[in-house]
Amino acid sequence: MESAASGTADGRGGSVASGAGDGASGRPVSAETRARGVAKVLIDEAAIRERIAALAAELDAFYGGATGDDAPLMVGVLTGAVTFMTDLMRAMTIPLAVDFMAVSSYGASTRSSGVVRILKDLNEEVEGRRILVVEDIVDSGLTLQYLLDVLRRRNPRDLRVVALLKKDKPDAVPVQVDRIGFAIPDEFVVGYGLDYAGLYRNLPYVAVLDPSAIEDA
Ligand code: PRP
Repeated sequence: MESAASGTADGRGGSVASGAGDGASGRPVSAETRARGVAKVLIDEAAIRERIAALAAELDAFYGGATGDDAPLMVGVLTGAVTFMTDLMRAMTIPLAVDFMAVSSYGASTRSSGVVRILKDLNEEVEGRRILVVEDIVDSGLTLQYLLDVLRRRNPRDLRVVALLKKDKPDAVPVQVDRIGFAIPDEFVVGYGLDYAGLYRNLPYVAVLDPSAIEDA
């Protein structure tokens, strides 16, 4: 699951704005109470919108002509991916189906073992379908690695992954991610679906929290 160390971007995916907010000065980015504790906006709303439009066009072309049973099944990974998934699916113009999975780690030991518990499984059948897993963020890669193993065993016709964010993390497991919205530094990020202690998911941008907010929240 997402962790809070620091590092550098790897240059894949879209570009990441630096200093889009004024948090570097220590002042809040926004007076909105939902933004309390935000140090800086890493990726603003316009950049997210533009990147999703590009991803949607690529996916439309990739799955193009899909109808009926050939329509891809988008599998959103609850809860963080909901925001990205709903924007991405509405930017796509081909027929598609959607479903969700919820997973949870068993705790600290899960990070090394990669064992993840399924809290909610899919309602839809996977066998013979074109599956597109939609993730908000790939951090250690363990969650996605587990999910892909589970889904592969169900014999999909095709299994692809799109992630809004991929952290540049040298010790991440090598996992399949076919399309990345933004490669980001190894910082703890919130917003646009991503939470800290259950909050911040409703920020319309991706942001970095002030360290004091992480301690205080
Ligand atoms: C986040 C995110 C990914 C996972 C990535 O989910 O949505 O599923 O962590 O981390 P990893 O690559 O290190 O496995 P989280 O467990 O925080 O749950 P949430 O989506 O409900 O916030």
